Amino acid sequence: MTVTALRSSVITFHQDPFLVDPASSYRYLDDALVVMADGKIVSVDPYSDAAVDAATQAAGSAVTVTHYPDSLICAGFIDCHVHYPQTQMIGAFGEQLLEWLNKYTFIAEQQFADKSHADTVSRVFLRELLRSGTTTAAVYCTVHPESVDALFEESERFNTRMIAGKVLMDRHAPDALLDTAERGYDESKALLQKWHGRGRQLYCITPRFAASSTDEQLAAAARLWKEHPGTYMQTHLAENTGEIDWVRDLFPQRSSYLDVYDHAGLTGPRAIFGHAVHMDDVDFACCHRTGSALAHCPTSNLFLGSGLFKLTEAKQTDRPVRVGIGSDIGAGTSFSTLHTLNEAYKVSQMAQGRLTAAHAFYLATRGGAEALYLQDSLGSVAPGYDADLVVLDLAPTPLIAFRMGFTQDILEKLFVLMTLGDDRAVKATYVAGVPVYDSARDEAFHYA
Ligand code: GUN
Ligand code: ZN
Repeated sequence: MTVTALRSSVITFHQDPFLVDPASSYRYLDDALVVMADGKIVSVDPYSDAAVDAATQAAGSAVTVTHYPDSLICAGFIDCHVHYPQTQMIGAFGEQLLEWLNKYTFIAEQQFADKSHADTVSRVFLRELLRSGTTTAAVYCTVHPESVDALFEESERFNTRMIAGKVLMDRHAPDALLDTAERGYDESKALLQKWHGRGRQLYCITPRFAASSTDEQLAAAARLWKEHPGTYMQTHLAENTGEIDWVRDLFPQRSSYLDVYDHAGLTGPRAIFGHAVHMDDVDFACCHRTGSALAHCPTSNLFLGSGLFKLTEAKQTDRPVRVGIGSDIGAGTSFSTLHTLNEAYKVSQMAQGRLTAAHAFYLATRGGAEALYLQDSLGSVAPGYDADLVVLDLAPTPLIAFRMGFTQDILEKLFVLMTLGDDRAVKATYVAGVPVYDSARDEAFHYA
């Protein structure tokens, strides 16, 4: 058994700071030894020679300790909503959601009928995640089964835990992107049987949104989901007012956008709803009651002019909803979770919320794991957890190094890092205990 160890400062969350005193929601160690074996974290202790000796004794041989000074180890970031095929179209100008889909997205996604194109983009996508410190993501592929194979094949190479699925669409998109209720069911089932639980890969049934699936397709998606416990379901919800009006016209019998999904059987544990910008109390209560999760996608919601996510209402203590952070590439504008948290803070300022660093880093780690029902294996730096870790550089740029000299404590440092930091603040990323990204060797991540 190979035992390795990292030395640095560590922050980890074990509770939800929206629900308990934030000061008791995390553990911070100024100088820690994180011991890893067989892909798992074995121990997290204050650093000392005795701690290294204990790890050596337990391993039965010398333990290599990699030291990261001026750094901070966190659980790998979790991106709860992202479209890998849209990597090639980030920063498409000038439109709001429905026009943006027609003008840019549905054009780009047609290229994924070609497996080699899907392979190329998957390669870039996985590397961008890892160089941003993201080790798990809930990923939309395209309608083409090949696009799912490409993504999971690449994920398998890094042994990352990815949750992904084929997009289901049987109306309101170009013919080349449409399936049918039956074909979508059959293709998703075959992909699910191939990939769900293979290594660390997990399958997600993925009806794009209510406007692009008929009642029949939503029902088929729900049937498949119920037939395969442990699988996921992801879709878009209440993102844009024009979209909401359209969904109301398409489903006049339903009381709300969320009610379309609830009525179809698409709410429950392991349901992940992207955006959920225009929600009311009844909607949040439904998410709480059913155990459904929301992905807060601030860079996308600002880029497309969709609106401001009501985080404080979502986390209301009498009916808290599971919430994670989503980059929503390519309506979202950054792979960097730090950058996404920066935008989440600004959204909270506009929505009278004031997201603290503790709340933000919780959302990006344990909050995401709770949204995905993976909080027993992901999202914390603690014994028994998967050794998916990001090593953050606390002085990645001259300005941040200078600014850090005026901070008093770790939460202030984290706030500066999420305000000024981006992928340059990621020193290294570990997946199941293995280093998969090292900023000193970033040239390995340049794309042809
Ligand atoms: N709603 C339906 N499809 C999409 C998509 O690809 N991106 C975003 N942001 N919203 C959507
Ligand atoms: Zn999306």
